Amino acid sequence: MGMLEGKTAIVSGAGRGIGRAEALLLASEGAKVIVNDVGASRAGEGKDVHPAEQTVQDIITAGGEALLNSGDVSSWAGAEALVAQAVDAWGKLDILVNNAGILRDKMSFNMDESDWDDVIRVHLKGHFALSHFAAVHWRNRAKAGEEVSGRIINTASEAGLFGNAGQANYGAAKAGIAAMTIILGRELERYGVTVNAISPRARTRMTEDLFGDMAKAEAGKFDAFAPENVAPLVAFLASEEAADVNGQNFVVYGGSVWVMQGWQPAGELKRDSAWTPKELADNKSTLFATRSSGLPPFTF
Ligand SMILES: NC(=O)c1ccc[n+]([C@@H]2O[C@H](COP(=O)([O-])OP(=O)(O)OC[C@H]3O[C@@H](n4cnc5c(N)ncnc54)[C@H](O)[C@@H]3O)[C@@H](O)[C@H]2O)c1
Repeated sequence: MGMLEGKTAIVSGAGRGIGRAEALLLASEGAKVIVNDVGASRAGEGKDVHPAEQTVQDIITAGGEALLNSGDVSSWAGAEALVAQAVDAWGKLDILVNNAGILRDKMSFNMDESDWDDVIRVHLKGHFALSHFAAVHWRNRAKAGEEVSGRIINTASEAGLFGNAGQANYGAAKAGIAAMTIILGRELERYGVTVNAISPRARTRMTEDLFGDMAKAEAGKFDAFAPENVAPLVAFLASEEAADVNGQNFVVYGGSVWVMQGWQPAGELKRDSAWTPKELADNKSTLFATRSSGLPPFTF
């Protein structure tokens, strides 16, 4: 008996990479899965239904249940139709894995408007649009007296936690997703829904040139950067065993899972009156007594 028997799930961007591994594992744990993927290029151009069809086929071949959705998650109507598809087919939605994403890395001075808009739209709006329609579904069920056990698992990135140069669009979207995870967790807890985020590391077409040789699989050795290593955390978070895990962000790859901790005060100036700019300058060493005033480290 799998950990997700009787559950229904949506995985966005499940035609390839991390989303595909997540959809396959959720299905093997017993969930019925809607495999969503628009089939875009890494930069978000074009459409191709074949990768999503392949994931659906592979789930069915392995004895699972899956349906295809080739809609764009960053369209409000597309997100509404995707949630409706799960409810129409199986009567309810239990698990939403927001994973779909694109990449247009450029330094801020080289980035054009569409690079900014498209990356923010697919990641940030795509995550929110699906979460919105799933939240409407769960709130309606809870208000009708049903006991709901809903799960949203978002996909953030260390680029959004630590800030990687060349990723102003992507990092801003991912930082937004990390913050939205906590916000939605606070909003939806009362309806029986948890909202968590993962920041994965995996060898996919999105990262193969970024990680280079470091992420290559070597014969006979544990393939730490395989996307399949990310999926078990998502399946756990989707399960009843994680009902008390909410608003968390995990970094996950290989055999490592870290729970991350967000902004904390790290230095303080405090008195019962306002500071002048010159006084702040004069007290800089007190404010930065325990940490550097330069850029925080990028710990990738
Ligand atoms: N690979 C990593 O190391 C890594 C690190 C941090 C975060 N992530 C995040 O993980 C997620 C999955 O990335 P991946 O590495 O598997 O990349 P990938 O390019 O292999 O997969 C992304 C999938 O999303 C789909 N997609 C794009 N736009 C869509 C849209 N509007 N609607 C529906 N589907 C859409 C694509 O067609 C593609 O199949 C992304 O959100 C990415 O930002 C990945």
